Amino acid sequence: MARILVIDDDTMICETMATLFRSRGYETDYALRIRDGKKLLAEKSYDLVFLDVNLPDGDGLQEVAAIRQSASSPEVVIITGEGSADGAELAIRSGAWDYVPKPLSVQQVLLPLARALQFREEKESARVVSVPVSREEIIGNSPAINRCLALMGRAAETEAGVLITGETGTGKELFARAIHENSARVGGNFVVVDCAALPPTLVESVLFGYEKGAFTGAEQAREGLIRQAHGGTLFLDEVGELPLDIQKAFLRVLQEHRFRPVGSSREQESDFRLVVATNRDLDKMAAKGEFRKDLLFRLRVFTLDLPPLRERREDVPDLAIFRLFRLCKRQRLPMKGLCPSFLKVLKQHDWPGNVRELFNAVDTAFAHGRDGSTLFAMHLPADLRVAAKLKESGLLENPRQNQPAGINVTPLAQIRQVRDEAVSSAEQDYLATLLRLSAGDMKKAAETAGLSRSQLYRLLQKHGINS
Ligand SMILES: Nc1ncnc2c1ncn2[C@@H]1O[C@H](COP(=O)(O)OP(=O)(O)OP(=O)(O)O)[C@@H](O)[C@H]1O
Ligand SMILES: [Mg+2]
Repeated sequence: MARILVIDDDTMICETMATLFRSRGYETDYALRIRDGKKLLAEKSYDLVFLDVNLPDGDGLQEVAAIRQSASSPEVVIITGEGSADGAELAIRSGAWDYVPKPLSVQQVLLPLARALQFREEKESARVVSVPVSREEIIGNSPAINRCLALMGRAAETEAGVLITGETGTGKELFARAIHENSARVGGNFVVVDCAALPPTLVESVLFGYEKGAFTGAEQAREGLIRQAHGGTLFLDEVGELPLDIQKAFLRVLQEHRFRPVGSSREQESDFRLVVATNRDLDKMAAKGEFRKDLLFRLRVFTLDLPPLRERREDVPDLAIFRLFRLCKRQRLPMKGLCPSFLKVLKQHDWPGNVRELFNAVDTAFAHGRDGSTLFAMHLPADLRVAAKLKESGLLENPRQNQPAGINVTPLAQIRQVRDEAVSSAEQDYLATLLRLSAGDMKKAAETAGLSRSQLYRLLQKHGINS
């Protein structure tokens, strides 16, 4: 049975809450000061702490992190003062699970309690199962991606909501699909809804479906996406864009597995598992009232935060080879080699568009180097090569290391220097390919390059390349 700790300097509040919780079977303690509360947290384990803000020995909000880090890592619910308008936002920002405003009502106290305990239960059960993940087409072996795979596997085992976050191109949709494919629902549909692409006027009819004649233009009844996900997984991409009224209706579907299509008098059933993705900060949105908190709580039983590619550069070669293998296979060509300079450029780049951008770069290189047996750096898009050279020579600081606004300390090189670097790099790659293709025949090499033999030798000498 769950254990609860109340920290509040008002003995009346403590006694009342303790009585309420104990009557429901929860073991409850209380403390009137932060110091005493922390002492209890060090001695015993708690699932949930109700924490007041104004306490005689400090500010409750400042203590949330410390309390969550205590041995039993309890969830924290803040008790906000009367008439404190920004209490909710402060509470959520401080890392609390939820907040309840004073004066307290039984309903207001029991609701976050039930949710927080359910959350913990699901989290606990997730911790003990470890599923061998079939990773499908998820490439990479970095510790960061392996952590994501492990969490994906645990999430797939449950029916709980999963929130996937990460920059563009990090694989949010790929992981959502993997959750479906590793779950018991694999026999059902995996239905993708791009909330950002749905015009607000159509969201409801697309999600819930409609009856014939429900509105002008509804000439046929149409099944909604929610129903299509019956027995399977519903993936709401860019969930932060879902209008508030639809969020409310959606929450009901989640709870009751029933909904009513637009213009229909009969309810339909849909039993689906929900996975959502976003690159917006839903906590912030919830604090501002732009996203429903109750929905958010249900969505983030599992949160999968996919790391950007620049934080796991060791995965770059595997990803590039995987992509190239695909392209070669599709065109029935033998697999090509990758020259070290090619991989070096890839590993140096910061990839703001992550895996998607990397795949595009490999596609470009493949198109340019289609006829050879090896891809060289010169086959890569020019901007990538230039950026790599600049970075290597320290001519251009990495613009991602954000400088304070308004202070321009980025040393930008002169265009001539940049151009020379790029030309030199392209020449080196070119010469390497040229020599390989002409297999030591310098006459042929000079012809191919459109140079005289002495010009070719001079160029080779300039780059210190031995013919
Ligand atoms: N670890 C990975 N292994 C193999 N392919 C990957 C991996 N991560 C991403 N990809 C590929 O990169 C491309 C982009 O991935 P995906 O569409 O899942 O990104 P996303 O996070 O949903 O991006 P966005 O926010 O722009 O929608 C896809 O082609 C996907 O298959
Ligand atoms: Mg996506």
